[in-house]
Amino acid sequence: MINRITNPDRIQPRENIDFKLDSSIPRYWYDNDPYKSRLMDGMQLYFPDGERYFITCVRHYREQISDPVLIKHVKDFTRQEGQHGIAHTRFNNLLREQGLPVDELLAMQKKRNSFWLKHFSPGFNLALTAAFEHFTALLAEGFFARKAVMAGADPRVKALVAWHAVEEMEHKSVVFNVMTTVAKVSHLKRCAAMIYATLDISWETYRTTDILLKADGFSWWQRKRLLLNHLGWMYGRNGVFGSFSAQILAYMKPGFHPDDIPVVHNYPAWIKAYERTGDPGQACEAMVAAAH
Ligand SMILES: [Fe+2]
Ligand SMILES: [Fe+2]
Repeated sequence: MINRITNPDRIQPRENIDFKLDSSIPRYWYDNDPYKSRLMDGMQLYFPDGERYFITCVRHYREQISDPVLIKHVKDFTRQEGQHGIAHTRFNNLLREQGLPVDELLAMQKKRNSFWLKHFSPGFNLALTAAFEHFTALLAEGFFARKAVMAGADPRVKALVAWHAVEEMEHKSVVFNVMTTVAKVSHLKRCAAMIYATLDISWETYRTTDILLKADGFSWWQRKRLLLNHLGWMYGRNGVFGSFSAQILAYMKPGFHPDDIPVVHNYPAWIKAYERTGDPGQACEAMVAAAH
């Protein structure tokens, strides 16, 4: 295996960022569209506990990591995920204030993660984490590569998603490197975990969006109609998930490495603007301005 653990400074943890998230954020903050808003709300709702699960899976191998650059990368990955958890917990508090069943959904997620930790091997849990990390590393591709996708989103939530997407690209190969060079997970297990993760994300995205819309008062028929109306936006060739389906398939190839996929083309615009202003809102706008 080629050693791809290079550049100790590729991951930049940014701490205590204030996204000015408060109750003035509209319920349907994304294009004034209930389905798009609740789909994103549902996804982000799971980030804090999901990221804690990721950290637990990687920590299992901490003592076995000897490469000093990988040790630093794991530390920076943990710091970034910790900050993501804090920011998304703030957003979850706003969703709770809107009367959404946040705690019930989080309790179900905790049960799911505990089940995995108890019944799956450490290697498979790490492979699941690497697969989920591959998805999060592609978030920027789906939501920020093209100007139109997030044009009608509330700037504060958009800035939160952009920051998270940027940092996911920075640490995209950390778990993968631990999985391949330390845990030595087989190609077959890595592929099985990706299939499992894809099914889990697809099902949970559907189920959670449906639960949130039900809590908003939408009837069964209204929810199914909303789902049908958004299938193209989600899974079409240019859909937010469909646009990176080739990169998901690429993960299955023997010899694949996350660094084979370049970071999104407008990533440098976010970095430069953030370095200049220290403001995630302006960094997000610069990234969107540089989008196709
Ligand atoms: Fe994250
Ligand atoms: Fe991550």
